[in-house]
Amino acid sequence: MGIVQEDPERHYFSSKVATDYDMLWSNVRMDEDNRKFIDNCYNRFYTMLPKNGIVLDAGCGTGIAESYLLREGFNVIGVDYSEDMLKIAREKAPSVNFRRMDIRKLEFKEGTFDGILCAGGVLIHIMESELDKVFGEFARVLAKSGAVFITTRAAEEQKEVVEEAHEGGKINVNYHTRNAVESSMQRCGFSIVNYAEEWDAVGRLFKYMYVHAKKA
Ligand SMILES: C[S@@+](CC[C@H](N)C(=O)[O-])C[C@H]1O[C@@H](n2cnc3c(N)ncnc32)[C@H](O)[C@@H]1O
Repeated sequence: MGIVQEDPERHYFSSKVATDYDMLWSNVRMDEDNRKFIDNCYNRFYTMLPKNGIVLDAGCGTGIAESYLLREGFNVIGVDYSEDMLKIAREKAPSVNFRRMDIRKLEFKEGTFDGILCAGGVLIHIMESELDKVFGEFARVLAKSGAVFITTRAAEEQKEVVEEAHEGGKINVNYHTRNAVESSMQRCGFSIVNYAEEWDAVGRLFKYMYVHAKKA
């Protein structure tokens, strides 16, 4: 199985993995505290956006976030580099423009979006040395005062580990520190609005960071 960062064409998110992923995360059961925490995070993001603003879902996967972004009245564009994930996203949200794209090299003009969501396990595929590339692209395609909301696995020490994945595959997972993420965002022109951590909703195996930032 290809390692995601080096092999975007033949990467981990195959058709079978995409279907399993969508089944698991579309129906995930969270306890009430976790659900409240996550709802508050999304509500904070929404309040940072103009009414009917344009939101980029960066690493949209199977389009799980699209239903609630659309419900809030936003215009949404989703990008992901797995065609298999995008296929499911297009079936679930036919009104959304989904494009195959690498978040390290966004094919949008400066100032296109009011907000960017980068949620779930997208940034685990981004090495620490590439965070500036991603946040630099986010800053470039955001309008002035645009908002970003990211979630990713958090750790006390920066680390990249190989984890067992579906179908006997292996996947490289980057755990980022608060400092690595916040300082990269700041270098790229963001000011941090809020930082919070919470256990992952399924197995409570690791913590996730939830970061809201604004283009300065
Ligand atoms: C675990 S899924 C999360 C999907 C979605 N954001 C969610 O919360 O359900 C991670 C997604 O990130 C995508 N991804 C990873 N690295 C990427 C990159 N450099 N550019 C675009 N998509 C990427 C993968 O293809 C995969 O669909």
